[in-house]
Order: sequence, then C-alpha cells, then structure tokens
Amino acid sequence: MQNVEQLKELHRKRFGAKPLVFAAPGRVNLIGEHTDYAEGFVMPAAIDFSTLAAITPRSDGRIVFWAENFAEERSFELSALPSSRKGDWSDYPLGVIQMLAAEGYAIPALSLSLWGDVPLGSGLSSSASVEVATATAVTSLMRVAIAGPALARLCQRAENEFVGANCGIMDQFVSANGAADHALLLDCRDLSYRLAPIPSNVALVIANTMVKHSIAGGEYGTRRAEVELACKILARHRPEIRFLRDATVEDLERWSHEIPEAARKRARHIITENTRTLEAAAALERHDLGQLGRLMHEAHRSYSQDFEASCSEADRMVELAEGLPGLIGARLTGGGFGGCTINLVEQEVAQEFRTRLASLYQAETGIRPEIYICHASDGARSLA
Ligand code: GLA
Repeated sequence: MQNVEQLKELHRKRFGAKPLVFAAPGRVNLIGEHTDYAEGFVMPAAIDFSTLAAITPRSDGRIVFWAENFAEERSFELSALPSSRKGDWSDYPLGVIQMLAAEGYAIPALSLSLWGDVPLGSGLSSSASVEVATATAVTSLMRVAIAGPALARLCQRAENEFVGANCGIMDQFVSANGAADHALLLDCRDLSYRLAPIPSNVALVIANTMVKHSIAGGEYGTRRAEVELACKILARHRPEIRFLRDATVEDLERWSHEIPEAARKRARHIITENTRTLEAAAALERHDLGQLGRLMHEAHRSYSQDFEASCSEADRMVELAEGLPGLIGARLTGGGFGGCTINLVEQEVAQEFRTRLASLYQAETGIRPEIYICHASDGARSLA
C-alpha cells in the first residue's frame, strides 16, 4: 500500500522540491458491461486502490516522470514530446499531457512521480487511475479547472488516441467522479449520472482469478466490432438506431436473420444489459438486495454465454461464490477474458466468505486467488 508522506519524501529527494499530491482510484463495475461504447448504462464504483501523483514545476524545459512501481524514470524535452506511443508505461501520463496540449493548454515543465496499488491487468482500471491522477495533478499545477466529466473524456481520448486502446468512458469517468459509499449510474450518452448509496452492511469483495486480462488485446476489439456490426445492420431498418442503446430486443428478433450469429449474441447481451443496469440501480436505491443479486447473476450469464467474454476460471469463481452464505450477487467485472469477479457480500460474513472462496477456488483450479475486501471510495482528489 502506498503512503502519501513516503511519496512526498521520495519526490522531494529525487526532484528537490516539495510536491502537491493527488489520488485517483481504480474501479469495480457492479453491472453494465461493454455497454459504455454503445452509449448505454453502467454502474461502477470507485474503489480504495488508487494511483498517487506527486507534482512540482521544473525550470529546464523538460517533462520528467518517475514510476515508483517500476523504479524507472522517463525524461522528455517539452518542445519535442513524442507524438506516438512507445508501448511503455510512460504512454499513459504522456498521452494525457498530449491531449491537454491538443486542447490548447500551454504545458509547463514538470516532474511527476506516480505510485499505484491498483492490481495491474486485473480489470480494475489501473490505467484509467494513472490517466486521471496525471490529469488532476497537471491541471492543478497549471491552475486550470476542468470539470470531472470533461476530465474523464480527455483521459479516455488519451487512451484511445495515444495509448491505442479503444475503451469506452466508464473507467475514467468513475475514477474522476466516484463518491465514497456510492455506486455511480452513468448514462454514457450524455454523461449524466446519479449516485446510489451502497448500504453499510454490504461489502465489495473483489476476487482476482489471476487470469490476466488486457483491453489492448484482440478480444476487446473483436467484441466491439461485432457490437458495431449488429448496430449497423439494425440501423438500415431503423436509422434512429445510432448505437445499440437505441435498439430493443424486438428489433433484434425482427431482423435477426440478417445478423451473423456472433454479432446477434453480442447485441442481445448489450440490449438486455442496459435494461438490467437500470433495474439494478433502481433495486439498489430501494434496498432490494435480492433483486440486485438476481440481476447480477443474469448479467454474468449473459456476459459469459451471449457475449462470450468470460473464461472457465471466472465462471467457476462465480459459481463457487453463489454457493456460499452471505452472497448477495456475483459476476465477472470489467473488460472480460479474466481479471476479477465482484461479489456483493453481507458485511458481517465478508472475512469468512473471502477465506472460503479462496480455498475452494484454489482447490479446484490450482491457482491461488487474491481476494480484496474493498469500499466504494471518492474519485480523484487532492491530498494536499
Ligand atoms: C474496459 C473498458 C471500459 C468498458 C469495460 C467493459 O474496462 O475500459 O470502457 O468497456 O471494459 O464494460
């Protein structure tokens, strides 16, 4: 776990000035998977794993990054910043700086130290937390205020256009705008959102299958292309369908013979997932945890069978959780093909749930999982 005072001291020793420090969290998605780029609904929460960013100005015309996780430095001439990615960790902070520059901001020379504890490649949005932490720190140094939704959009563009991962808006949005003890229901069409309190007797238990996932990898892109193909075919009949958000199950049934099977299944997941996500938000708001759990169960089945974005380990992790006392709902969270499951669990049995799930999963798969008991946390913030 990173420590703010330790990071300040590290930064001061390395760069010779006392920094300001900012934090931006990772996220867990309760429901609404792959719906963000179809302009649909998602309901994630920011979690208490985060990236810290310490920042100070420089006077030598350079941009210097230090990644405490890798004990590596990268240094760039401000007047000759790379315009394309290198396949390196520095692509994330550099991408954010390039997007700020593209918006017309004059970027000052700066030193930025990053230190994160979001598990990497586990579907908990470590990259979004680096982007949002960087954007928060750099705009604060520039004394520029960018509202949370616009900041999230800028960070998404850094990931799409600079890093080269074709993600939606969910991760950056909740990292920038999340609130402690709340889930965030986001309409990815107009970025309007509302916060739904997570009852204090509910724990967010995140179970890492230890199967690595990457959204830069091919599967995410293939799924997205299938979703867009189904949308294009439906739009020939109903031009008002701009994204699958605008389509209904009836549309899909009516023209299903024109849509290749894989695209049809992906579309069915997206259309039904949008409905489930809205229902889940309503269930959470009226404290109907039974209904919320049922919707998570259906969402997992749809993600696994229609979207085919699960893996045998994640399916097993969900099934094992569903057999344990105290479970409210479980499903694979994030981009898919590995990563973590989210388990909503009655707080008073959360520790026992964690121990039992870990030993059952290890006994069956031979893999020792990491299981974290998390809390919904605030989005990006200054730690002074
Ligand atoms: C990744 C992407 C998000 C979203 C999810 C799937 O986390 O970054 O934009 O598409 O996958 O819901």
